[in-house]
Amino acid sequence: MGKVHVFDHPLIQHKLTFIRDTETGTKEFRELVDEVAALMAFEITRDLTLQDVTINTPVGESTSKAIAGKKLGLVPILRAGLGMVDGILQLMPAAKVGHVGLYRDPATLEPVEYYVKLPSDVQDREFIVIDPMLATGGSAAEAITSIKKRGANNIKLMCLIGAPEGVEVVQEAHPDVDIYLASLDEKLDEKGYIVPGLGDAGDRLFGTK
Ligand code: PRP
Ligand code: URA
Repeated sequence: MGKVHVFDHPLIQHKLTFIRDTETGTKEFRELVDEVAALMAFEITRDLTLQDVTINTPVGESTSKAIAGKKLGLVPILRAGLGMVDGILQLMPAAKVGHVGLYRDPATLEPVEYYVKLPSDVQDREFIVIDPMLATGGSAAEAITSIKKRGANNIKLMCLIGAPEGVEVVQEAHPDVDIYLASLDEKLDEKGYIVPGLGDAGDRLFGTK
């Protein structure tokens, strides 16, 4: 069973409060989502493998640490996942970025896939699937299935806010995938929105309704 990690760092929790607040406008919402994504990326990469490298400092030779092992790939789920990409790339600018396009049918709440593009060396990468919201879990589970079908075998899921229902769906469908959240909220409402959540992440990021 994949583990659920909820980041309780004070900076993440503080910024998340303003992200949730209806008084927060589009510009500030975007900036805060980027900042929280970067802070989460800092935590999520804690287990990256290091290797020794020998370099020369101005004073002498040094055996220092550098990141080894699998290369990273980010996979934002379109469209709201895009709002977290730049923040993460600030910390890992060399990561490749794939995209999975899904929207949630408002009537059935089922995910509908409309676009997939991944880096060519899928098997050799560790992927972080990104979406601000893990609600019913349908979109995240489908996105992970989609990238697994194309050869991905090392996947983490990173969302700002999760609902218990969504966590359960992803854990059942993908027991090999750990889930990283800034908050595990209370529940879903009758329209599939996370309570208390932050509303519609895509609309708040892009200023649409
Ligand atoms: C939102 C969100 C997730 C999905 C979560 O996207 O960004 O992708 O809903 O819901 P689920 O866990 O119940 O599947 P939405 O479908 O609104 O599309 P958008 O990103 O294009 O706005
Ligand atoms: N998608 C969102 O953007 N918000 C929710 O609360 C649930 C799904």
